[in-house]
Amino acid sequence: MNPLVLGIESTCDETGVALVEGTDLLVDVTASSMDEHARFGGIVPEVASRAHLEAFLPTLEQALDRAGRTLSEVDAIAVAAGPGLVGSLTVGNAAAKALALALDRPLYGVNHVIGHAVVDELVHGEFPDRVMSLVVSGGHTSLLLIEGSAVTVRELGHTLDDAAGEAFDKVGRLLGLPYPGGPHIDRLAREGDPTAIPFPRALTAPKFKATHAYDFSFSGLKTAVARWVEAEQDAGREIPVADVAASFADAVADVLMMKTLDACREHGVETLVIGGGFSANSQLRDMATTRGEAAGIDVRIPPIRYCTDNGAMIAALGSAVMRNGGVASDLGIGVDSSMPLTTVSV
Ligand code: KG4
Ligand code: ZN
Repeated sequence: MNPLVLGIESTCDETGVALVEGTDLLVDVTASSMDEHARFGGIVPEVASRAHLEAFLPTLEQALDRAGRTLSEVDAIAVAAGPGLVGSLTVGNAAAKALALALDRPLYGVNHVIGHAVVDELVHGEFPDRVMSLVVSGGHTSLLLIEGSAVTVRELGHTLDDAAGEAFDKVGRLLGLPYPGGPHIDRLAREGDPTAIPFPRALTAPKFKATHAYDFSFSGLKTAVARWVEAEQDAGREIPVADVAASFADAVADVLMMKTLDACREHGVETLVIGGGFSANSQLRDMATTRGEAAGIDVRIPPIRYCTDNGAMIAALGSAVMRNGGVASDLGIGVDSSMPLTTVSV
């Protein structure tokens, strides 16, 4: 019988609580404070921390209620110990430690970003021995080589500046779209021509092969979009918003998939898992499916509800760590706002 793992997520603006048994998801409840941040055009950490405090107990109660389980049935507590906003993390970790102490159950402090990949085990089953994972969100763009179902994780590359979602949000702002701009650009891009404007593909030239083969950079692309829009405005022309969105989205997806499939090929990995809030992006999903198929790579992308921050990803990783014989965390662990992506659990 697999242990019943309670997962707690509080790294950013989502309070998530979930119950997982092995790779079976019993329940996943999320409360979001996004609406409270929208008018500021970005996440306000203090507002997020306070929202976690208010949302935690109701979210926990709802999760237990829906699953028809009681706290006494929980075998272990998993919590995202980093990376993320320090205040938000602290609220979730304090709650997790209180539960572990009161119930006398082991605590597993796990890595939020790796959770974005491992959540796929709840949808498509246990990972094969070696998996490539592209984790893309508003805060992260990382390429991870995951071995032994999350026993070891190697970070092959990451963004040197903006994350993919962040670049979308910034371009959204300059096109006058509401925050977060990502989903709006996605929608507009579906009506535009992705070949209309040749935006740059950063770090893809052969000279970067030795130093930045698997790193990304999106801030130059964002500037290129801004310059292009400015030049059109100066010339008195109307901005073809759908074409700008489509060409920009195509540039982002193209670079992400080019590097990710190169990494799969060079490391002899046949399974690719894409996770994180940005994997909701339809241009990326379409390109991953077609190019993955052509390259003979099994591309696994969980449904969108598991791609945004949630408790299921944390419970899934806690469950994987336990299956792999990982040791429980000390109750004295601190949160780590910049936890390295090679750290699976602390
Ligand atoms: O993982 P996530 O939910 O949270 C954080 O990283 O904090 O990712 C959210 C990010 C935001 O930047 C949002 O604009 C972007 O993912 N995003 C999208 C889409 N859906 C969410 N970007 C492009 N297309 C989408 N469909
Ligand atoms: Zn996340």
